[in-house]
Amino acid sequence: MTTVKTYIKEWQKALQSEIMFLKTKGSTKYLLLNGRLLSRQDTCHYYFDTSIQMKIPVGSLVRVIWGNKEVQGRILSSEGENIILALDAFLGEELLELQLYYDPWELLDELHMRLEELLKSKRKRARVQRLMNPNMEAKHPAEKASSNVHELVLRSKYNPVTYVWGPPGTGKTYTLARTAANKYLKNQKVLILAQSNQAVDVLMAETAAFLKKKGKFQEGRLLRYGSGTGEMLAEHPELIASYLLSADQGQIGQEKDELLQERRQLKYDLFNSFSGRDTDALLAVEKKLSSLLEKIRQKEVKMVKAADIVGVTLSKAARDASIYESEYDVIIIDEASMAYTPQVAFAASIGKRVIVCGDFKQLPPIASAKSPMVNQWLKEDIFHHAKVTNWIGEGELHPHLFLLKEQRRMHPQISSFTNKHVYHSLVDDFPGIERARDLIAIKHPFPGTASILLNSAGAGAYGMTERTSRSRVNLWQLLLSFQVLHEVFSAGITSIGYVSPYRSQANLMEQLLTEFYGTDLQKADILAATVHRFQGSEKDVMIFDSTDSYPHHRAGMLLTGKDSERLINVAITRSRGKFIHVADANFVQKTVAKEKTWRKLVSHQEKYNAVVSQQQIGSWIQTPHLNLKWLHARRLDLVRADIQRTKKEIVFGHSSSSVLPEEWIHLLNDRPAGVKLSLLSDQKNEQLAADSQYSNPLPFPFLIFDEKVIWLGMPVEALLGAKPPHAAARVRSHVLASFLMTQVKGSEVRYNKKR
Ligand SMILES: Nc1ncnc2c1ncn2[C@@H]1O[C@H](COP(=O)(O)OP(=O)(O)OP(=O)(O)O)[C@@H](O)[C@H]1O
Ligand SMILES: [Mg+2]
Repeated sequence: MTTVKTYIKEWQKALQSEIMFLKTKGSTKYLLLNGRLLSRQDTCHYYFDTSIQMKIPVGSLVRVIWGNKEVQGRILSSEGENIILALDAFLGEELLELQLYYDPWELLDELHMRLEELLKSKRKRARVQRLMNPNMEAKHPAEKASSNVHELVLRSKYNPVTYVWGPPGTGKTYTLARTAANKYLKNQKVLILAQSNQAVDVLMAETAAFLKKKGKFQEGRLLRYGSGTGEMLAEHPELIASYLLSADQGQIGQEKDELLQERRQLKYDLFNSFSGRDTDALLAVEKKLSSLLEKIRQKEVKMVKAADIVGVTLSKAARDASIYESEYDVIIIDEASMAYTPQVAFAASIGKRVIVCGDFKQLPPIASAKSPMVNQWLKEDIFHHAKVTNWIGEGELHPHLFLLKEQRRMHPQISSFTNKHVYHSLVDDFPGIERARDLIAIKHPFPGTASILLNSAGAGAYGMTERTSRSRVNLWQLLLSFQVLHEVFSAGITSIGYVSPYRSQANLMEQLLTEFYGTDLQKADILAATVHRFQGSEKDVMIFDSTDSYPHHRAGMLLTGKDSERLINVAITRSRGKFIHVADANFVQKTVAKEKTWRKLVSHQEKYNAVVSQQQIGSWIQTPHLNLKWLHARRLDLVRADIQRTKKEIVFGHSSSSVLPEEWIHLLNDRPAGVKLSLLSDQKNEQLAADSQYSNPLPFPFLIFDEKVIWLGMPVEALLGAKPPHAAARVRSHVLASFLMTQVKGSEVRYNKKR
């Protein structure tokens, strides 16, 4: 049997190669725009716009690449869509654009140290050994178990290690929450862990809700520790340290609010003037803020010690002494399939008992380096490493594996696909679930249907690759998905998820929702993100925008590679009552092999007549949004009206080798005097009176008026693969205009963000 010392050596090697990879190659890139020098002392302070909201903690070390120069730096301040950087070198007064790399490798470094410490303790090593090789006898009285919750309570009382596996919606989190509550009622100390903040939030919220219902909730005894806690805890603010703090010492909270307000004001001033003095003031506020945050942190540490159930992410647990220096009676890890095995091992070492819960058919952990140790230890999950799932196919169960198999989340029309193709009929639907979920399925759009394929084939070829991240984007499907989401929202449903495999596409939707809904968004439970942020949560309606389409020749690895089954599985199984798959079915059938999950999903939806074609677009759109109109693409009169309204500039991207029709030449030449026309096209067009011309790196035609109004779907002659009747979309959005302009290669045409 492998000794713990050997495991730890291998894990440390794996962590080291991953750290090296992140330090040197970095995988997460961000685009910074319109940089301005603020001050130049030991380090140079620059102010940038960011193309998306960056979620990088202040103080983080980053690398930037400018041309062929690489410079180290630190984040001084980051809020909304702007950022202040301290760079180690001077790069000029103004910087058009810059690439920033940030990867949280410091977290892995901390884990590495925890493993080193673990080696010194015999007791902790024994805990890791039992986790990795759970071959001890099962001691719980199985015959006494009266329910799933009861069985888990018994197992985790009598055995040091319990694995829980269940397909989506089988009540893993439900059961864990009640088990945690049970231990709490027996005055045991429980540590709740998961890889993502969302998963910790979901389990903490569920535990709190249960205890409140029983009248056993006591403020301060449950604590959600750490930043990054979000909308899921809205109903239970008393779990969050900052709430408890402000309740008991109003002045710290008030001081913090005032500093935040002052920071916003200073930034605003900075934005509009250029003076170096303002930077000093801002940095002084930033300093005060961080010392205040330190004060808050110390109070939090006391709260952590006092609480009986603490919820925190796995990475924070390994980084924060107030957690890793404590001992717990029970460690509960949810969504364990996404965690690195060394993380789970470290977590198991700080508690007498551990419950490891998850679904190895959902997302695996992510690592970037390609070394054999990384492949072995950081890309596979703990279920696999501990070999607890080996016998499942033979109808037998490992004595320390507790299986849940009746799902109570999805409408059976939705689960029918995953039950059959992912779980091979191991799961059943709870008998009452269909009637309960029909309440959602009967609503508009597509009333009476719970699983829909919204087929975009025939709209044109909108598949593109985002310039900085190399992540894929599809603007047509983005708008189509927004329209569906808006229909759902207008029908009175407020729990909605939008998911794309691609980060850029998900980011764009997130920004678009903020732009279009503003504060209304806070009243609803709407999330747009990649699949990783969804694991563990559920929504009444899910929109899965698979994004990939022509003119790509092949679908991306996310949708067809080794782990694509796990990704698609998670995307589908978040839905309670309606699952809407937005995809180009033609592209899938022509480019994706039959045995791939994505292709099977499309075939399954076709078989059950759940397809709505691009041509039916007029039949389901009932509530247009103010900023997005769908029109017939031959309605040139409407384009003419926009042209006539333009004040400054028209950007016209004309893609394919098609000839521009006469009527379009007239239309554009006939623009108001003084309006500039920038043409993006590889062809010379003598008749078109353009003021400047560049090439169009995008595969589809588009128009942008005054950096605000965008048209897609016209002229139809320039669209690849479009079939009549043609639809066009007119959208008013700074987000999309700015996105499109940054995509236009070489930035010959520069977009100046509205100040
Ligand atoms: N025994 C039960 N009684 C009533 N409702 C239940 C029960 N078990 C689960 N549910 C409900 O079913 C839904 C799915 O449960 P839960 O979120 O715990 O599933 P899960 O197994 O954790 O799924 P995932 O794999 O997506 O994390 C929830 O709405 C939950 O409240
Ligand atoms: Mg769960």
